[in-house]
Amino acid sequence: MCDINHLQKMYRTHTCGELRIKNVGETVTLAGWVQRVRNLGAVTFIDLRDRYGITQLALDDKTPTALREIATTLGREFVVQITGKVVERSAKNAKIPTGEVEIQLVDIQILNSAETPPFTIEDQSDGGEELRAKYRYLDLRRNPLRQALELRHHVAQETRKFLDNQGFMEIETPFLIKSTPEGARDFVVPSRVHNGEFYALPQSPQTFKQLLMVAGYDRYFQIVRCFRDEDLRADRQPEFTQIDCEMAFVEREDILSTFGDLMRHLFKHVLNVEFGDFPRMTYADAMRDYGCDKPDIRFDMKINEITTLMQGKNFAVADGAQYIGGICAKGCAAYTRKQLDELTEWVKRPQIGATGLMYIRIGDEGIKSSVDKFYTPEELQKIAAVLGAQKGDLILILAGTKKQTLSALCELRLEMGNRLELRPRGTFAPLWVIDFPLLEWSDEDQRFYAMHHPFTAPQPEDLQLFMQDKQEGLENVRANAYDFVMNGVELGGGSIRIHDSKIQQQMFKVLGFSKDEAEYKFGFLLNAFKYGAPPHGGIAFGFDRLCAMFGGHDSIRDYIAFPKNNAGKDVMIDSPSRIDEGQLKELGIKVTAETK
Ligand code: AMO
Repeated sequence: MCDINHLQKMYRTHTCGELRIKNVGETVTLAGWVQRVRNLGAVTFIDLRDRYGITQLALDDKTPTALREIATTLGREFVVQITGKVVERSAKNAKIPTGEVEIQLVDIQILNSAETPPFTIEDQSDGGEELRAKYRYLDLRRNPLRQALELRHHVAQETRKFLDNQGFMEIETPFLIKSTPEGARDFVVPSRVHNGEFYALPQSPQTFKQLLMVAGYDRYFQIVRCFRDEDLRADRQPEFTQIDCEMAFVEREDILSTFGDLMRHLFKHVLNVEFGDFPRMTYADAMRDYGCDKPDIRFDMKINEITTLMQGKNFAVADGAQYIGGICAKGCAAYTRKQLDELTEWVKRPQIGATGLMYIRIGDEGIKSSVDKFYTPEELQKIAAVLGAQKGDLILILAGTKKQTLSALCELRLEMGNRLELRPRGTFAPLWVIDFPLLEWSDEDQRFYAMHHPFTAPQPEDLQLFMQDKQEGLENVRANAYDFVMNGVELGGGSIRIHDSKIQQQMFKVLGFSKDEAEYKFGFLLNAFKYGAPPHGGIAFGFDRLCAMFGGHDSIRDYIAFPKNNAGKDVMIDSPSRIDEGQLKELGIKVTAETK
């Protein structure tokens, strides 16, 4: 609890969360918001609230009439200053820290009146999401949001403490920059002075932190805002915060050890949870066993491929599939027809994208499936054996293209994990995912994209393959990249960087940049690499995601003081919004009929 006495003697001697039985007999002054007035006839109680807690004020027949009259005019959220005597309560409230005492009023000043708030300022508010977003400053008065922001503050302070102790320097990098490719679209800012030219807001400080390494600041960090114009999800905001870090003269092991220690420090100091070494999994294993690169390993239920076992039985769905895989839901053989139909509808939703769902149940009456027409019980038994299924279990099977089916199986596995309560809050399963592919081929664009970003170095063993002047085999080049994953959430990602301008040039070439284009976009970096760039690497953690993980929530929105809604809008300040003609003209922007 902070001591505010020296700061605000004028308005208050204590906060509303501070008084205890030891203060009985003291005369105190408090200031805060009226949470509630309860008039019980002979006595009236007022709950006074501030950031630190709630203190009960009491008025009875001994209270001067003038004060009792003022009390009758108080409404919810009025701001008042009171003076009174701390007394022991006759009916104590063990639920709040100040519950053993109350204040007998001696004086009350209304500092400001308040209109009735549009929703109740209670832990469980009656306000809908949209309404609370519009009045975010009122929503922030509620305990759950205050606690979320306190948690965020705590995580930030512990991060700074740890990194400072490790010799990291916090250095700010600019927001008005040139595009950095991180896979999303840029937010751009038109320049008034240079009409027709634009700044881009950073998707991350990636190139700047690399330039800081060239400049010799070998341990950098920043808790920094990043901007990405991408589709929103529960764990994505257009502006979000990273704990962005970079180190020089390091290899992958140094990074995994330093930032593994940061994670251990934060979990210990924020949640009192201790971890040993974090397990590691290759990208290839994660994709094979969990269908995604951020597996939730709190529970098993691995995916198994059964393509060859299912093909060649004149079953068109199986024979036409590139990949068939299944998961075993333990103890679910008794799923009803209705439950299975509902699950089938669930996998057919556009977000999951499966064409259908097959199942095999191993019940009391033997093995039964939705595809009995095509497979003998012995064949089904073989599939069950691959999936480790036993009596009482249910096997769920999807078929289609490999990429899409694995991704749908990943979602189905998580859904079954939820339904079977295998993903409890308060249990944390961290891991490093390593050995990502360096490049991803896009059939649509007929070109390679960098899987992480174009500054990621290939694994040393794959460098030769990468530098050869052929496209063949490039998809097999592994990146020296790593992600920190927990409970199915990607909390952080980074890589060892390219520090040689020839390798960087080759990367731009592989990504389809012409020499001129690479020069125009990244000339500054290629140039810097000519002046003694040290070997370096780093990582960035999603700070909002980390806070939500600590707080036990999926959505990062409540860990951000003023977030955007799921349409990317701030409904409180009504942004984005139009700007006036004069401003547009100054910026040299013409508004066409469609944009008007
Ligand atoms: P990356 O793009 O993987 O790497 O981002 C790092 C981490 O930032 C978080 N994150 C987000 N959080 C909320 N909303 C978003 N829209 C969002 N996008 C990303 C994730 C992610 O793991 N420059 C590299 C890091 C590096 O190589 O050092 C980068 O930004 O938790």
